[in-house]
Amino acid sequence: MIAQHPTVVISGATGAVGSATAAALARRGARVVLMARPSERLDSLVERLGGIDNRVSQVPIDLASMRSVRSAAREINRTGGHVDALLNVAAVFVNRYQKTSDGFERMLATNYFGPFLLTNLLRDRLLGGGRVINVAAPSTTRVDMQRLFSKEQFDAMYTFGATKALDLMFTFELARRAKRWDVRANAFHPGLVRSELMSEARRPIRILARLASSSPGRAAQDLADLAISPAHAGTTGWFFKGTRRLDPPKTATDETEQVALWRRTAELVEMEIGGF
Ligand SMILES: NC(=O)c1ccc[n+]([C@@H]2O[C@H](COP(=O)([O-])OP(=O)(O)OC[C@H]3O[C@@H](n4cnc5c(N)ncnc54)[C@H](OP(=O)(O)O)[C@@H]3O)[C@@H](O)[C@H]2O)c1
Repeated sequence: MIAQHPTVVISGATGAVGSATAAALARRGARVVLMARPSERLDSLVERLGGIDNRVSQVPIDLASMRSVRSAAREINRTGGHVDALLNVAAVFVNRYQKTSDGFERMLATNYFGPFLLTNLLRDRLLGGGRVINVAAPSTTRVDMQRLFSKEQFDAMYTFGATKALDLMFTFELARRAKRWDVRANAFHPGLVRSELMSEARRPIRILARLASSSPGRAAQDLADLAISPAHAGTTGWFFKGTRRLDPPKTATDETEQVALWRRTAELVEMEIGGF
């Protein structure tokens, strides 16, 4: 059954896709929990969507810090309420190697480790019909964990592409594991959307992205649909572009690799018992 005011937790809420999706969901009556790093743009988004009295709240999170992820998850878990959907939208692209406080490369932490840990820590809020949607891309990058941990071999485009492939692999393994908790997991490709995401990329990529991208409105409506529409209540393990199923790249579909990746990631983020 779909609640009259479903609760949807959205990371990357201040970005192009996240803010448009939050607005679309708020218009459809959802309670939206906006997650991003504390900033004026987060505060003003809360205001723009009607303020805290209007079923809009914010939870600060820095996905690059596992400590911050744990603290944000605790804040959401404290409320004890059911989360109907968790949208892992946030991502970052940086053009040089940066190490986080946990010793991870920054894109790897923000785009993959943080969402992985957050999702697992919210398991008990999601169980019984919750939906996890990981915003990804049809990345054909083959994941090489050793390379992702090597400062010497750092290549921004490789790392970014790998994090999007990791998001796909994570989704498919999550979909299998989450069945016993009655939770669904799907991945979503928003298409090329005008945003600041690739502002540190090389000029030709920035120009290409600008020329080929469009406003986030369509992607936001589709993502909102996947999050709360009864039509998608039972769908799991799919990769969507819009609301249509897309074949995931072959590089992300090997089940043995997905299982191994899950185990390795759980170790790396020191996930305590209680995840999916
Ligand atoms: N744009 C495209 O063409 C495109 C294409 C395919 C897939 N996607 C995917 O769509 C998603 C959204 O992209 P977008 O274009 O909307 O990007 P965006 O406008 O740059 O937004 C990125 C969001 O991520 C958040 N973020 C970055 N670092 C963070 C951190 N350390 N902790 C918490 N939040 C952090 C930002 O929040 P704060 O900086 O305010 O904390 C912001 O809300 C991403 O997953 C991206 O890979 C985008």
